[in-house]
Amino acid sequence: MQGELEQRPLQSATKSFYSHLQINHFLYLLLFVIGLSLGVIASLCFQSFPFISSRDSLYSFSPSQEPETSSSSSSSSSSWSSTDLARTNGTKHSNDTNVSLKEQNVLIMHDMNDEELLRRASMVPRVQDQHVRPKVAFMFLTKGPLPLAPLWEKFFQGHEGFYSIYVHSHPSFNDTMPESSVFYGRRIPSQPVYWGSITMIDAERRLLANALLDLSNQRFVLLSESCIPLFNFTAIYSYLINSNLSFLGSFDDPRSPGRGRYNPQMQPHIKLSDWRKGAQWFELHRDLAVRVLSDRKFYPLFRDLCRPACYSDEHYLPTLVNILYGESNANRSVTWVDWSRGGPHPGRFGWGDVTDEFLNRIRFGSKCLYNGNETSMCFLFARKFLPNALEPLLRVSPVLLGFDP
Ligand SMILES: *[C@@H]1O[C@H](CO)[C@@H](O)[C@H](O)[C@H]1NC(C)=O
Ligand SMILES: *[C@@H]1O[C@H](CO)[C@@H](O)[C@H](O)[C@H]1NC(C)=O
Ligand SMILES: *[C@@H]1O[C@H](CO)[C@@H](O)[C@H](O)[C@H]1NC(C)=O
Ligand SMILES: *[C@@H]1O[C@H](CO)[C@@H](O)[C@H](O)[C@H]1NC(C)=O
Ligand SMILES: *[C@@H]1O[C@H](CO)[C@@H](O)[C@H](O)[C@H]1NC(C)=O
Ligand SMILES: *[C@@H]1O[C@H](CO)[C@@H](O)[C@H](O)[C@H]1NC(C)=O
Ligand SMILES: *[C@@H]1O[C@H](CO)[C@@H](O)[C@H](O)[C@H]1NC(C)=O
Ligand SMILES: *[C@@H]1O[C@H](CO)[C@@H](O)[C@H](O)[C@H]1NC(C)=O
Repeated sequence: MQGELEQRPLQSATKSFYSHLQINHFLYLLLFVIGLSLGVIASLCFQSFPFISSRDSLYSFSPSQEPETSSSSSSSSSSWSSTDLARTNGTKHSNDTNVSLKEQNVLIMHDMNDEELLRRASMVPRVQDQHVRPKVAFMFLTKGPLPLAPLWEKFFQGHEGFYSIYVHSHPSFNDTMPESSVFYGRRIPSQPVYWGSITMIDAERRLLANALLDLSNQRFVLLSESCIPLFNFTAIYSYLINSNLSFLGSFDDPRSPGRGRYNPQMQPHIKLSDWRKGAQWFELHRDLAVRVLSDRKFYPLFRDLCRPACYSDEHYLPTLVNILYGESNANRSVTWVDWSRGGPHPGRFGWGDVTDEFLNRIRFGSKCLYNGNETSMCFLFARKFLPNALEPLLRVSPVLLGFDP
């Protein structure tokens, strides 16, 4: 319908065009429009390119490490900030999301733009409705495919009604999930993510906002395509639901890759003693997730003042939560990653690495507090697992992880 309505004025405009101008002019115009479109498409492709590069350098503990991507945050590619929202009354940047996703005909959960989404999500209730069965929202922040999806399918199998899934991939990625998959139709409207820039935080907020709209979601876990579950669904679900704290890594790193990234211009709102660091793979309770989403004060400070070698995804949430809601955080992540090899990249694990001993060491090899009691079950998820780890993981999972065979 909409298409027809739009075409009619166009046709009459074209007629008068012909009558008033020579046909050549029209052709030139047409060529110009085609050229312009090609230019726009090409620049979009070019912009998206850094997305492909590895982000491991962001987790570098070495001060000399620079990200491979030039920070695109300087070009203000961030399409989403609550202060922009407040300033523009929700009229800015409103078309990007729609266009890229519609062009590709990918199945997307809804067509709200970022502002609508954020506005609605920040109004949702924070408290748990006692009559609704609480769900855990699994939010996958990915570049493209989910190579370990078959493992996750087994993980979720038989637990419908206890979880929700949200996937934020690059907008140009073609969805190929079959209809039978738990990931089918779970993509949310997305924007390109440039590693190291505030667009990473935007993507996380986009995922949170989408997940918050489902009032039965009570726990929110951020995962990547290289993450695996370390326990069966029941164990992870009850661990998260029964915890009285959120699990967001947060610590004060006195070295240059920690405090060294602090920008004194953030004063007086953020003091050096407030500054925290932590990996981005968080687990938040609903209450904290809504509070994070309604932050209008700290987000712009990070957007404008935390540029590489400062990485918002390592500092924004840990610092925000430390300042405002520190007591609600366990200050540790439930997502395991291996820094023991040293150097700028965390360990990656492939086909030959996956053994019972290895997985059990991750599952029970640490000590931490859970609801005030010491436990050896500190990690529920682990990264970074390569696509070729899938086969051995599927082999050990029925016995080790207790997935339904
Ligand atoms: C936003 O809307 C309010 C009321 O609708 C108006 O008073 C204000 O001038 C608007 N601000 C901008 C920046 O458009
Ligand atoms: C979005 O699209 C509508 C209709 O296509 C247009 O009127 C509006 O100006 C566009 N807004 C922006 C910010 O590009
Ligand atoms: C996005 O698309 C929907 C449906 O196609 C449309 O109603 C809405 O106005 C669009 N939003 C923008 C900002 O163009
Ligand atoms: C992505 O989608 C486009 C348009 O539907 C199609 O032409 C292209 O072949 C697809 N690419 C892949 C890798 O599937
Ligand atoms: C986590 O750190 C905050 C300070 O940011 C502190 O108030 C809180 O007690 C810590 N949580 C735990 C479980 O130690
Ligand atoms: C969480 O539970 C532990 C043990 O019951 C208690 O010591 C702690 O104060 C609780 N934390 C919060 C934020 O309720
Ligand atoms: C902590 O441990 C004590 C004794 O081992 C137990 O009684 C209590 O229920 C535990 N608390 C939690 C929250 O698991
Ligand atoms: C799930 O894991 C828990 C704890 O590891 C275990 O007690 C339980 O038996 C497992 N469930 C299944 C169905 O294997």
